[in-house]
Amino acid sequence: ASVYDFYGTHQAGITTPVQDRLHFAAFDVSDMLDRDGLKGLLADWTAAAARLTQGLEVEEGGAVGGSDYAPPVDTGEALGLHASGLTITFGFGPTLFTTADGTDRFGLAARRPPLLEPLPRFQGDALVPQLTGGDLAIQACADDPQVAVHAIRNLSRIAFGRATLRWSQLGFGRTSSTSTAQATPRNLFGFKDGTANLKVEQHDLVDEQVWVGASDEPAWLAGGSYLVTRRIRMIIENWDRVQLGEQEMLVGRSKGSGAPLSGGGEFTEPDFEAEGPTGAPLIDVNAHVRLAHPTMNGGTRMLRRGYNFVDGNDELGRLDAGLFFIAYQRSPQQFIDVQRSLASDGLNEYLKHVGSAIFAVPGGVKKGEFVGQALF
Ligand code: HEM
Repeated sequence: ASVYDFYGTHQAGITTPVQDRLHFAAFDVSDMLDRDGLKGLLADWTAAAARLTQGLEVEEGGAVGGSDYAPPVDTGEALGLHASGLTITFGFGPTLFTTADGTDRFGLAARRPPLLEPLPRFQGDALVPQLTGGDLAIQACADDPQVAVHAIRNLSRIAFGRATLRWSQLGFGRTSSTSTAQATPRNLFGFKDGTANLKVEQHDLVDEQVWVGASDEPAWLAGGSYLVTRRIRMIIENWDRVQLGEQEMLVGRSKGSGAPLSGGGEFTEPDFEAEGPTGAPLIDVNAHVRLAHPTMNGGTRMLRRGYNFVDGNDELGRLDAGLFFIAYQRSPQQFIDVQRSLASDGLNEYLKHVGSAIFAVPGGVKKGEFVGQALF
């Protein structure tokens, strides 16, 4: 079973090979909290995360080693489950720096990254406010769902009275690979997802496209990244009535092998110029892979790290299912450019973006420091 370092140059959970399970949580910070209170919360979260990711309880003997007359410090459901590759990644939303009405609650407004703005409205957005935004974010990924849930549950509990859950999302299957050592998984449309994703082995591209550089503004965010999440509902009942050939045309890849429709194997570069016998492009002009491809977006890449979700069903008896999209990039503009390019994506007929959030993810944590310490 994998154990990942909590401390390091970058936070874990970004280029870490994507684990199988997700529990993501966005929090609103209490209006009662002041600057020192916020620092205290981040310090407490750091201490707990450093232990949890090593397969330890929140505190030594936290679950059953304490007083019979006090609630246990650790909730206990991860006893005996090991680290299971748990990573815990923290992010700061725009509203942590300045609230929507312009209040500078923590004296951080001047430190706000100029690029950390709420995302613009995109065509087709059907965002639900209760599933959108947040002052703070925690991404917990693990190969055991109970380990990821235990982490978010205990970190929420530690925040009691200081920050409350705004929304949270469970993911049961990864929809991306972030390492060439991983097989490409599938999303709920049944297609391989993550084929052309940035991979940790592509060091230069990752440095160029994912990490905020030492020369970027602001300096406190160096070694960090921008995290975009989108809760994308898939209308899978409609999708399941689409002919295989059309499904492949909408994506631009073969459903079985994941190869581009211009030919070759899964990892062959798509040839957008290639034409069929009728003169029509083999990869449709509105195919997802064409519109999302770097050549259509000024060379822009991003590191995708999303998960499948099924959250029961709606009142019409349709599964409330989809893709919880997660992407890390050096600048939010990378996501914005690709998402705008996807406005004419044929897949949109089967998609509904209902949740959205953006966070600045500080660089890695040094032992003895707390996450985001350079901000203060
Ligand atoms: C590629 C599915 C949403 C960006 C792909 C691929 C599939 C796919 C099957 C091809 C395999 C691969 O290279 O990973 C989906 C589905 C979505 C979705 C089902 C919605 C539920 C998005 C969004 C973005 C995005 C919102 C970003 C704004 C990309 C990028 C690629 C890609 C950058 C790689 C393109 C390339 O370089 O060839 N997606 N995607 N996708 N997708 Fe999506």
